[in-house]
Amino acid sequence: MKAVAIIGSPREGGNTEILSRHTLKAIESEGLETEIIRLAGLDIHPCNACMVCRQEERCPINDDLFPIYTKMKEAEAVILASPVYFGSVTAQLKAFMDRAGYIALPKRVLAGKVGGPLVVARRAGQNFTFAQIMYWYHVLGFYMPGSTYWNIAFGREKGDVEEDEEGLRTVWNFGKNIALMVKKLKA
Ligand SMILES: Cc1cc2nc3c(=O)[nH]c(=O)nc-3n(C[C@H](O)[C@H](O)[C@H](O)COP(=O)(O)O)c2cc1C
Repeated sequence: MKAVAIIGSPREGGNTEILSRHTLKAIESEGLETEIIRLAGLDIHPCNACMVCRQEERCPINDDLFPIYTKMKEAEAVILASPVYFGSVTAQLKAFMDRAGYIALPKRVLAGKVGGPLVVARRAGQNFTFAQIMYWYHVLGFYMPGSTYWNIAFGREKGDVEEDEEGLRTVWNFGKNIALMVKKLKA
């Protein structure tokens, strides 16, 4: 049983990655395997609406998307994590969500998996961005466990999020619930 976290921040080792690693640690503590996937530095183009994926489970744009799509398909749980950029997810994560989501949609390929968003910002926009990512999970038929608060945190410079005790506790509890839900669904 495996959980992957896909990180939409272009900043390696930043707050989004710290939050994601913390969540994955909680998941590992329940015995699941985990993997971090950073979109930083990858070549992932936006959707060009060619509609090939309506007929076949593939995308004709030849870039770094499909290997990540395959990892997502193989995992039981998928976490999407993003910093807030102008009140929204990063362009990198949006391109990934649009294309991977549309490839998966016709055959309900991701339905029944477990997942949810993690979001971090300096000051504002976490709730909107959290909701934005939840729309993706909802349409694709994921199960999303709760936590003890929404999975949001505060931080600006790399590492600031370590000071957000409630944010870390929330994503830890979310990770625990992800793992418990995966195990219950598999039982
Ligand atoms: C282009 C850009 C836009 C941003 N927009 C917002 C914003 O709308 N609200 C906010 O509170 N922080 C905003 N921030 C700050 C980041 O969300 C914050 O620094 C976050 O911790 C970055 O996460 P990372 O370390 O994983 O990259 C923005 C940062 C950048 C670079």
